[in-house]
Amino acid sequence: MSLKDKALAVRDNAYAPYSKFKVGAALIAENGETFVGCNVENVAYPEGTCAEAGAIAAMIASGQTQLMEVYIVADAPMPVSPCGGCRQKLIEFGAGHVPVTMATVSGLEQRMTLADLMPGAFTEEHLENT
Ligand code: THU
Repeated sequence: MSLKDKALAVRDNAYAPYSKFKVGAALIAENGETFVGCNVENVAYPEGTCAEAGAIAAMIASGQTQLMEVYIVADAPMPVSPCGGCRQKLIEFGAGHVPVTMATVSGLEQRMTLADLMPGAFTEEHLENT
């Protein structure tokens, strides 16, 4: 199954009764394994988690720490853009050149690198004087 099809499939399992906005994310780790995640909302709204966070958590739980490619899909008029918090989470585990495909269920796709999505990111280098 392609990364796109995995993201589309996991999106079906999203728990989004409040926003009704289901998101699926799939990523490929350094060892070639694929991990998926969907958004999981909560009645206490800020406790909800994004699809990207779920996929990253699954990758880390399996012992992988580097992501090589990401695919995110939702039913939106334009390709779904990861939120600022998820950009920071993706940068933690992916190099700047990592491609992120943002997509709609209708087939629109926009591809950007992590560096393009997060210019001027706060990184480990900022901690070097500590
Ligand atoms: N959401 C994601 O899971 N990923 C994104 O890239 C954008 C937003 C979720 C959070 C919330 O459950 C719903 O979409 C509406 O914001």
